[in-house]
Amino acid sequence: MKRKVYAIILASGKGERADSKVPKQFIEISGKTIIEHTIDAFEKNELTDEIFILIEPSYREFIEKILLQNRYSKVSKILYGGTTRRESSFNGVNEVPEADAKILIHDAARPLVSDPVITNCIKALDSNDAVNTAIPATDTIIRINSFNYIDNIPDRSFMMQSQTPQAFRSSLIKTAHSLAQKDNNETLTDDCGLIVRYGLADVFIVKGDTMNIKITYAQDIYLAQKLFELRSQN
Ligand code: CTP
Ligand code: MG
Repeated sequence: MKRKVYAIILASGKGERADSKVPKQFIEISGKTIIEHTIDAFEKNELTDEIFILIEPSYREFIEKILLQNRYSKVSKILYGGTTRRESSFNGVNEVPEADAKILIHDAARPLVSDPVITNCIKALDSNDAVNTAIPATDTIIRINSFNYIDNIPDRSFMMQSQTPQAFRSSLIKTAHSLAQKDNNETLTDDCGLIVRYGLADVFIVKGDTMNIKITYAQDIYLAQKLFELRSQN
């Protein structure tokens, strides 16, 4: 039987580092808001069944207007996020009813996610319970100590930059999040981090995409705009 595929889009952040009037996911680039580009990617993906969107409550009207305008057929839940990304993700994951569904968790701030990357994550869940998309690190990564000196320099050939989507069997990611709820360590920044911390599964790597940038700083908004232009030329 086909396992149901849910895409959880995290759009409940404030975007403090981007320093814009509205959170970055609601800024317009290339004809629509960043979050619309992100939703479009999953709406168009043939293997995705349902989409949940996590937002901050004060953006409810805003998002409802966007949904009406676009007539998305897969967006089935608008949910409220928490004060951290982990809480937002927890709130989304807990709304998936099935234990063996496939869940993709994705940053709203990555509007350039490609269809093959989404499909590859979903397919990788046929033989893995946890999947991370990643690209080879381009900068050398240095580990530092608390005195601001280099501690060590890991071999770059083994270093990768983690992206989203990250994809999981629903029962596994629910277990990870319930363990994290009882833990007051908030140093991890993503969902695969929870799987690794609690040693719950091997996390398989799917090849990511250098275009799939996360809009973090104001300059990334310009960069994303250019990348959309580039993509429309191909
Ligand atoms: N996110 C979320 N809920 C939070 C924090 C983050 O849903 N409480 C989402 C963001 O909306 C974003 C994704 O998680 O799509 C990645 O987080 P990040 O890039 O850190 O976004 P922000 O937290 O909004 O930005 P900043 O850290 O600069 O404030
Ligand atoms: Mg953040």
